[in-house]
Amino acid sequence: MKKTTDDELIEAAENAFRRAYAPYSRFRVGAAIALDNNKIVTACNVENASYGLTMCAERAAVFAAIAAGASRIYRIAIAIDSADAMNSTLMPCGACLQVLSEFMPKDGDVLIARKGKFKLADLLPHAFTIGHSPEV
Ligand code: THU
Repeated sequence: MKKTTDDELIEAAENAFRRAYAPYSRFRVGAAIALDNNKIVTACNVENASYGLTMCAERAAVFAAIAAGASRIYRIAIAIDSADAMNSTLMPCGACLQVLSEFMPKDGDVLIARKGKFKLADLLPHAFTIGHSPEV
């Protein structure tokens, strides 16, 4: 089976932001994770009238990947609508990086559409861990 390419994963994230529910911020985010079986899991941000209950696209994608049977995550792609951010890009928030670090090794790839490829440890060099956190 052909390995999902970085470009395919970014394209999946770009399709995912179109399904975002973001009536409050109007900032649509998509995320896509490559599974070991070469399937792709996607997610988008889902907002709520009680703003603090909003879920980021990246965390939703991590949870969906785990629910789909993944135990480790090696690559995630993230995309936003360039029109929403006046052509800028986003970097994943700290909460999402912390959640990602539970399952992604330090040298895992974080692909940001229209920006580039980062190692998780470059974005979150000192993740919180406790004694029994898994060695990822
Ligand atoms: N958001 C994400 O989905 N991912 C991030 O990394 C940061 C922010 C969402 C949450 C909210 O729906 C909107 O973007 C504006 O903060």
